[in-house]
Amino acid sequence: MRRKLAAGNWKMNGLRSALSEVEILAAAHPAPKAEVVLCPPATLVRSMARVCADNCITIGAQDCHQNQSGAHTGDISAEMLADAGAEYVIVGHSERRETYGETDEMVRRKATAAWAAGLRAIVCIGESGEERHAANTLDIIGGQLAASVPDAATGENLVIAYEPIWAIGTGLTPTLGDIGEVHDFIRARLERRFGNGVGRSVRLLYGGSMNPGNATEIIRVPNVDGGLVGGASLKAADFSKIIAALNG
Ligand code: PGA
Repeated sequence: MRRKLAAGNWKMNGLRSALSEVEILAAAHPAPKAEVVLCPPATLVRSMARVCADNCITIGAQDCHQNQSGAHTGDISAEMLADAGAEYVIVGHSERRETYGETDEMVRRKATAAWAAGLRAIVCIGESGEERHAANTLDIIGGQLAASVPDAATGENLVIAYEPIWAIGTGLTPTLGDIGEVHDFIRARLERRFGNGVGRSVRLLYGGSMNPGNATEIIRVPNVDGGLVGGASLKAADFSKIIAALNG
C-alpha cells in the first residue's frame, strides 16, 4: 500500500510570519493518514523544520545543486538542505527547467545528489500545452522519466510528480481520463524499468491547479497517490481541505 502524500510547494512565497499558517495546519491534522510535506523557500527550511519538530509535517526544499560543494555562488547543496532539516527536495520543476534551462540530465544528477545526502527526491515531469495539442504527451513524459530518474530509484527515495506545464497556476486541469492515462503510463514505465516491486511502490503525484474543489476527484483516479500543490498550499484553510481529501 502506498501512503498518500500531500506535498505543498510554496515557490518564492513566505516570510517568517507565514509560519503561523503551518502551526494552524499542524493543529488541524495531528495524526493524518496521508503524509504531509511542505516545501518552503530555502530561507524558511530551518525555521519551519523547528516548528514541525513535534508535529506530523515533514519539510522539503524546492531545488538543490547537483554538486556537493564548491564555487557555485547562490546555490545550495542537498547536504545543506538536509542539515537545515529538510527530508525531501523537489527537482526538475518546470519553472526551473524553463527559467534556468535545467535539462533531464541535470535533474537526474540533482536527484542523485539528493539521495547521497539522504533526501527523498520529488522528480517533476510534464508536457507543455503545445506538446499536449500535438498529442505528444506520452512521448514527452516517457523521455523525461527515462532521462531524469537515476537507476538507484526505490519506493523510499523517489516520488514522481506529473505536472502538465499548462495546468500550473492557470486554474486549468486535464480531464480525469487524461490524468489517469498519464499516471498509468508512468506506472507501467516504472515497473518495466525497475521491476514490479519498486515500480509499484513509487508514489505518483498530480500537480497543476489542484485545489480544495477538485482534489477529491483527482485523488480517486487510479495511480494518483497524492498531489504537489502550489497556490492552494499557502493557506492552511485550503491545504487542510486537500489533506482531508487525501485522508479519505
Ligand atoms: P499550482 O502549482 O498548484 O499553483 O498550479 C503546482 C506546482 O507548480 O507545483
